[in-house]
Amino acid sequence: MSDLRNVLPHGKEGTNNVWDAMYTQRAIRYWQEKPVPRDLLKTVIEAGSKAPSGSNTQPWVFVVIDDEAQREKIGDALNAVYEGGPLKNMITEGQKSDDKSQRLMLKGAQSFFSKLAKAPAIIVPCLYKLSSPTPDPGSLEAGSSIYMAVQNVMLSARALGLGTVMTTAHVLINEALRETCDIPDDAYPAALIPIGYPDANFGPTTRKPVEEIIKYNFW
Ligand SMILES: Cc1cc2nc3c(=O)[nH]c(=O)nc-3n(C[C@H](O)[C@H](O)[C@H](O)COP(=O)(O)O)c2cc1C
Repeated sequence: MSDLRNVLPHGKEGTNNVWDAMYTQRAIRYWQEKPVPRDLLKTVIEAGSKAPSGSNTQPWVFVVIDDEAQREKIGDALNAVYEGGPLKNMITEGQKSDDKSQRLMLKGAQSFFSKLAKAPAIIVPCLYKLSSPTPDPGSLEAGSSIYMAVQNVMLSARALGLGTVMTTAHVLINEALRETCDIPDDAYPAALIPIGYPDANFGPTTRKPVEEIIKYNFW
């Protein structure tokens, strides 16, 4: 598959080729000022809902935040955490790295933390009525019943030419998020994913070579 790198699409267009989508699904943190139509938001959530879950319990609700005032509140909460805590210094220092991809990632992260409201919509997948493979929302197993849906959302977004970035920033603004969006106590945010038309290109991603991560039969 590594030969694919030369022919993989690079740019802002969508694709119906599943290989192209998987191999060029970059983290996108810059957005065009263009709203995402609700039918497309609904389509990516529906694609998410096609994912497997323990005993097919589908223990999820996706909160889609496309209202500007709502996005501002969430963006302000995240920016306050960013400005007031150690994250800002870590990201600023990290941008002095010799590694260009690390520098670019942290520049993007800086934009994500300080300008989240610029994303035309934010998706918060929540675990809800979780029972399988565990009722414990804090466990690793709980993640297995929602993160496949999350990746489906992100891949279908990529197919439609919409950029996303998976983040766990919801933990930093748990209270503000619950209050702003009326998330009930028995629902558990599992991610915070901005989505929109990208102001950056999709393209090949940098990952460990498969030879390094595969073991046949024995570790
Ligand atoms: C569990 C998880 C948490 C993440 N949290 C953040 C985050 O808080 N802020 C951010 O900007 N990116 C976050 N990311 C995005 C990663 O930095 C990104 O997926 C990774 O660097 C690969 O980027 P690439 O696909 O463009 O190569 C997170 C990704 C994952 C899977």
